Amino acid sequence: MKFRDSLTAGQTGYKRRFRRLQSSPGYTRYVEKNGRVAVEISDLEKVYGEGRAAVRALKGISLEFPAGEFAAIMGPSGSGKSTLLHILGALDRPSSGKVVVGGQDLSGLSDRKLTLLRRERMGFVFQFFNLIPTLSAEENILLPALIAGEKAAKYAGRLDELLDLVGLQNRRTHRPDELSGGEQQRVAIARALVRNPDIVLADEPTGNLDSKTGDGILALLRESANRYEQTIIMVSHDARAAGSADRVIFLADGRVVDEARGLEPDEILERVKTLESTS
Ligand SMILES: Nc1ncnc2c1ncn2[C@@H]1O[C@H](COP(=O)(O)OP(=O)(O)OP(=O)(O)O)[C@@H](O)[C@H]1O
Ligand SMILES: [Mg+2]
Repeated sequence: MKFRDSLTAGQTGYKRRFRRLQSSPGYTRYVEKNGRVAVEISDLEKVYGEGRAAVRALKGISLEFPAGEFAAIMGPSGSGKSTLLHILGALDRPSSGKVVVGGQDLSGLSDRKLTLLRRERMGFVFQFFNLIPTLSAEENILLPALIAGEKAAKYAGRLDELLDLVGLQNRRTHRPDELSGGEQQRVAIARALVRNPDIVLADEPTGNLDSKTGDGILALLRESANRYEQTIIMVSHDARAAGSADRVIFLADGRVVDEARGLEPDEILERVKTLESTS
């Protein structure tokens, strides 16, 4: 079975999950019942710069993301969404407040430890996909595994599956400059998912995609959250994209101003418009 083959039984990070998959009947919608919290932040503040030039980008944000949740973050331009995503991804440190990932408080960790944590537990899709120009699409997708010192061959099944899912089988040997913007974005998404990280952070993952391809990517993120209990945190301006998440968190001026579940895209759009007109 494809999904099973693509997971590496010998890898410590995957052992637990692998066993879980083996013992669960079928592969669909496996959700752990104990409500484990994947990421928790409290009283998060971020100030860029100093003195009169200081910008308070985050003004005391507290949130919890349960394992397996697909969350969307929305808000006007400049409201702090990317800042929040960078701090959640341990790419930047908060000015004050706490970030706890998988029970571990990040504030005490060295830069080296943070780098390891990112490698082992996180997948990133950022606005400028950061693909390596000299590597092919498939090499870019495999990069997180290679950086972690794993053999590419172990990931052959997973690579194949992801290329199918993002619709790039016939582009696997193309370099980024031989791919369209949307194709590059899909490579970046496959790369973020290849090792089934606990947490996937995505800034506008459907931004450059037509609606059909975008829907495919959203379904893929949805499926990742359900199947592998990955926590997906996605920033998006697109109400349709946010509508496919379990929860939408609305930011304005560095604060969480609202959150909601089960909203339809037009309701999300209404709230965003209200926020934009008042901020
Ligand atoms: N490196 C930086 N130095 C100084 N100010 C910054 C820096 N990065 C972001 N800011 C400021 O912090 C605020 C939040 O920025 P952020 O990038 O998080 O917004 P955003 O919600 O992601 O916006 P957008 O929707 O436009 O991407 C903005 O006012 C921005 O100007
Ligand atoms: Mg941003």
